[in-house]
Amino acid sequence: MSLPKIAIVGAGSLSGRQIYPRIARAGAKLVAVCDLEKEKAEERADQYGGKVYTDLDQMLATEELDGVIICVGPSFHPIGAAKVMQAGLPVYTEKPAAETIDDLKTLIKVQEETKQIYMCAFKKRYAECYRRAKEFIDSEAFGQASSMSIFRSFGPYLNNSPRRDFLLDYGIHSIDLAVYLFGPAAKVYAMSPEPNTYTINLEFKNGAVGSFCFCGHRRGLMEEDIQITGEDSWMTINDSVSWRIYEHDKIVEFKQGNFSTAGGDGGAATGHQNEINCFIQAIQGNAEPVSTGHDCLESMQLYDAIRTSVDEQRLVEIP
Ligand SMILES: NC(=O)c1ccc[n+]([C@@H]2O[C@H](COP(=O)([O-])OP(=O)(O)OC[C@H]3O[C@@H](n4cnc5c(N)ncnc54)[C@H](O)[C@@H]3O)[C@@H](O)[C@H]2O)c1
Repeated sequence: MSLPKIAIVGAGSLSGRQIYPRIARAGAKLVAVCDLEKEKAEERADQYGGKVYTDLDQMLATEELDGVIICVGPSFHPIGAAKVMQAGLPVYTEKPAAETIDDLKTLIKVQEETKQIYMCAFKKRYAECYRRAKEFIDSEAFGQASSMSIFRSFGPYLNNSPRRDFLLDYGIHSIDLAVYLFGPAAKVYAMSPEPNTYTINLEFKNGAVGSFCFCGHRRGLMEEDIQITGEDSWMTINDSVSWRIYEHDKIVEFKQGNFSTAGGDGGAATGHQNEINCFIQAIQGNAEPVSTGHDCLESMQLYDAIRTSVDEQRLVEIP
């Protein structure tokens, strides 16, 4: 069978590190590269192959493609994704899918009309540790979910545009992860004395409670600590690479990241390779993305409620 033919829109920083090098590995072929800045597209095409474009419409009108990956930024993701789906092709965008709920709803409407695959690159949904967490949460051993806490840190953001916004660009990963693991949130109370610091309390529709602490004041030291508790069992996950599962105070599963062999750093721990694999397999009819437009809508609703709670200093209920 011939390899699925993929085009990538955006030849910037993240795609250069995490998307272009992973296409061949996912079993697909890069045939076109599009960026408004021609030199950037040429550089990627030199490295990984493909014809160079500076205009998405022209690329869609010219190339015979099986799918398109867009890694540009949230203002363009819904616009580009709609064009690709209207051209009759599956599309994958980087996160966030959009800047606003309205833009996301427009994207979802186009997806429903065209019946094309839309997948957002919420990498944590595809990372090994969180897939395991989801399986554990859904198991009998976990029982009724009771609580979740997520601490996540990074260096300071400029917070001068949506693309440079700490909550929308960085916090969104944890917001989406919480919704992936426990389902939609019902109530939220958030405090943010300045835009690189958030503490957020949540109640989920499944009856559990949760808290986020997002810290944008740890330059050069990104850390993530997650605690998930059921009835008489729990899981701790550190930095996406190590976890422990406890049942009745006994550790029943222990996993530590191991990068001593070639298999260790394969993009399964971060989810970057797994999500591209999923898109390519979905194009071939062999996988179902777990980060559709509707999945993103639940995360965006929580994101929006956090913003409202901070702005209006009140508890916000999510309908
Ligand atoms: N999942 C992750 O871990 C992760 C990490 C970093 C960034 N990201 C996401 O990746 C996306 C891109 O980030 P980046 O750091 O690569 O940005 P970037 O600015 O380095 O690259 C964006 C590229 O898109 C091009 N571009 C802009 N508008 C275009 C258009 N209309 N058509 C074609 N090309 C266009 C720009 O010229 C630029 O080369 C963002 O949504 C960001 O949130 C995700």
